[in-house]
Amino acid sequence: MITPYMKISNISKFFPGVRALSNVEFDILKGEVHAICGENGAGKSTLINILAGNYMPDKGHIVIDGEKVVFKNHLQSIEKGISVVYQERSLVPNISVAENIFVDRQDRGFFGFIQYSKMYENTKRILSQVNLDIDPRTIVGSLSPAIQQMIEVAKALSVKCELLILDEPTATITKKETDILFEVIRKLKAQGIAIIYISHRLQEVMEIADKVTVLKDGKYIGTRRVDEIEIDGLVRMMVGRNISVDEYSPQFTDEVVLEIRNFNSSRFKNVSFELYKGEILSFCGLVGAGRTEVFKALIGLDQKSTGEVSINGKKIIIKNVSDAINKGIGYLTEDRKDEGLFLSMSVEKNIVSASLAQVSSHGFVNGEKACEIAEKYRKTLNIVTPDIGKLAGELSGGNQQKICFAKWLMVNSDILIIDEPTRGVDVSTKAEIYKIIRQLTKNGKSIIVISSDLPETLAISDRIIVMYNGRIQTTINRQDATEENIMHYASGL
Ligand SMILES: Nc1ncnc2c1ncn2[C@@H]1O[C@H](COP(=O)(O)OP(=O)(O)OP(=O)(O)O)[C@@H](O)[C@H]1O
Ligand SMILES: [Mg+2]
Repeated sequence: MITPYMKISNISKFFPGVRALSNVEFDILKGEVHAICGENGAGKSTLINILAGNYMPDKGHIVIDGEKVVFKNHLQSIEKGISVVYQERSLVPNISVAENIFVDRQDRGFFGFIQYSKMYENTKRILSQVNLDIDPRTIVGSLSPAIQQMIEVAKALSVKCELLILDEPTATITKKETDILFEVIRKLKAQGIAIIYISHRLQEVMEIADKVTVLKDGKYIGTRRVDEIEIDGLVRMMVGRNISVDEYSPQFTDEVVLEIRNFNSSRFKNVSFELYKGEILSFCGLVGAGRTEVFKALIGLDQKSTGEVSINGKKIIIKNVSDAINKGIGYLTEDRKDEGLFLSMSVEKNIVSASLAQVSSHGFVNGEKACEIAEKYRKTLNIVTPDIGKLAGELSGGNQQKICFAKWLMVNSDILIIDEPTRGVDVSTKAEIYKIIRQLTKNGKSIIVISSDLPETLAISDRIIVMYNGRIQTTINRQDATEENIMHYASGL
């Protein structure tokens, strides 16, 4: 019999009002990619935080190589060879890429005192593992979330470890970067390293994992070899039922609601396109292609851009996000941690935060009304929380995303721009969000989606614009779109 590398034994963890994990137990072998799947709030990240020494379990223990271990803090877990890429970005924004990568190691006297030239050289090498070619001196905060994500991955891969934990490493990166990541994972696996892989992108799980363990409401449901299970079966284990997908029903008209002409900035060149009433228009491209930058410019967040914007045939100038809202454009950012969500405010306050007028009378917020509306969104989007008074920062990653989405649904703009609509969201809620987006177009709204998830793009879009290196490469109609032709143009071919 093979002795497992790690035995997770009877682990339970409680938070106020929530049983995040209850008697979870399973084994992880060396050289195995072990996926953990489950709906938002199932307890995946909590388990990872226990393995990483950030939380102590209330019950149960961990055995590594036959020896019982207790991690009182994060460093003790690192010392045992556990390396983690967290779901939420953890890089320090106002220092350089190199300093971020070496921040933990400087303490350990890796260099004695810091030799910058050597540190930069090493950083270059570490980044090249994931095909990133950026100056190690770049300040992290100036890079896009997707590039930051790849840096986190490179950082985790750069330390010698025995267990590598990746908590939704691909939530913001595209197929091309995912392929690079998978190559590295296969290499590590061949060296006998154990890998825990958490993802809501089930196709990826089937592609990279050897085994998959399912958690539901903090409970262990089961472990399967991926060659013994299909995606449908996995979904049933996670959700307890099959998920129905709506038939595609196009709603777009020939009426142009938004027209962009000759948009230019240092990040993109000559971007022109139009959006039709009732349309779902997607933007695709690799990390760094300039998709997000175009829309930040449109919303007035990039003052240095130039170009013309017309709404319903009338030229307008948009100064900032609230000006955009007044002119009928809503913008759900990809960066929920920095721009989208108030972590120390309640779920309810977050949901109504961009539409206070709707819940106010005579300048006062009507608490009852706000509560009623927030409750409605909690139900339709299945936001997992004991109550809507809970702080947004205490919800699981996917549930935080649902709050951001609810907030913009409530604003009810005629044009809604959504950057990564289902980032970190589980399969059943994804299906629900697609239904809601379709329903919006039925009501005459027009939607722009920027998604790094290709199956998602193919499922919801009427047209797809592909960008490469700051330029529009092509526009593909739904019926002609495939993963292959999108990737072809996205790679600049
Ligand atoms: N620090 C905390 N304080 C209070 N409750 C918490 C805390 N961290 C997690 N929880 C709760 O524990 C439960 C499990 O959360 P966890 O983050 O482990 O879910 P998850 O499976 O990672 O979900 P997701 O797919 O959305 O990331 C959730 O109900 C969450 O609200
Ligand atoms: Mg999580």
